[in-house]
Amino acid sequence: MVRIGSFEPVAPVVLAPMAGVTNAPFRTLCREFAPGLVYVNEMVMATAVVHGNAKTERMMTFGPDEQPRSLQIYGSDPAMLGEAIRKLCDADRVDHVDINFGCPAAKVTRKGGGAAVPAKPNLLRAIVREAVAAATPFGVPVTIKFRKGLFDSLLTHIETGRIAAEEGVVAIALHARTAEQHYAGVADWQAIGELKAAVPEIPVLGNGDIWEAADAVAMMQMTGCDGVVVGRGCLGRPWLFRDLVEALNGRPVPPSPLLGEACAVMARHARLLAAHLGEELAMRDFRKHTSWYLTGYPVGGEVRRRFANVCTLAELEDLIAPLDPAIALVEGGERIRRGHTNGPIRVALPDGYLDHLDDLTVPDDSHVMALSGG
Ligand SMILES: Cc1cc2nc3c(=O)[nH]c(=O)nc-3n(C[C@H](O)[C@H](O)[C@H](O)COP(=O)(O)O)c2cc1C
Repeated sequence: MVRIGSFEPVAPVVLAPMAGVTNAPFRTLCREFAPGLVYVNEMVMATAVVHGNAKTERMMTFGPDEQPRSLQIYGSDPAMLGEAIRKLCDADRVDHVDINFGCPAAKVTRKGGGAAVPAKPNLLRAIVREAVAAATPFGVPVTIKFRKGLFDSLLTHIETGRIAAEEGVVAIALHARTAEQHYAGVADWQAIGELKAAVPEIPVLGNGDIWEAADAVAMMQMTGCDGVVVGRGCLGRPWLFRDLVEALNGRPVPPSPLLGEACAVMARHARLLAAHLGEELAMRDFRKHTSWYLTGYPVGGEVRRRFANVCTLAELEDLIAPLDPAIALVEGGERIRRGHTNGPIRVALPDGYLDHLDDLTVPDDSHVMALSGG
């Protein structure tokens, strides 16, 4: 069973950190469907935690009853990351820290950060060691999340997993794509099985392409992994976590909600977000969620467009009111891709980056104050 410190989830399911999505309101909504799982906050930058800024402070909000308070941190400078983690733990703001080694954004890999780090095992080890050293005195467990490698000719997931286990990381999560693949194609679940076989000491969590609860059961059966990390499948479908708990406990999964139920959840999500961000900012941010909630319901392009321009909570209610609540999801609608789908990309790296894979040069994170992706 997957444990995060003293926390034992009711099923081996983790909400993937997703920048701009997995904030406190979204996690509250998910927890209403399935309490007792690990829901990871959106990523924050180590540099921003250390120097402090209002946006990062707000991003690090947890529900008053939220347990565990899981936060993903981005940082590829060991000293800066260690300082950020020590600061958070000392202020008792987190129960679990996850480190992002999978971000494929050009602005970080170009400096040797994010998904570029695992290509340099000594650097990776130094970062992980510092993070574990910072968190351990506070009893805060550290996990890491990474991809298969930069590209097919440089696969690093096995070595990354080995280093994590040796350095005291409590669980590892593999997004089974390369950075070059970005979000395209299908995740390589076989790589998850290979990682599990190579790192038997700590739980291995599989990530990539869990769209329905049955996918989690299939991934665990196929790979022998200890649990699953779920990203895009829950966009506009927070009830997926309830379905996952049911399926992984061998119980039948409820049918997908009709449009009326989906819209009621959408409206609740919008209200939670408005309470968190203020209505104006929240509704601008919520536009992307409306398209995810409507995915697979045959409501027509014009309705979708109107939702995608919504400005207020009242307007959202007005858009929902005339819709037929009995409309069912189209066959296979759960599997329609949402969120990122693009790729492959050309991976940006510093000049000569791959010439000396044993070097320990610390990437410069100071220029990145905000990031989106993993
Ligand atoms: C909108 C969005 C934002 C993301 N942000 C992050 C992030 O901040 N950190 C991270 O490790 N992964 C991030 N990811 C990647 C997901 O955590 C996950 O690894 C990926 O989507 C594959 O899982 P899935 O097929 O279940 O979506 C993001 C993905 C999406 C779609």
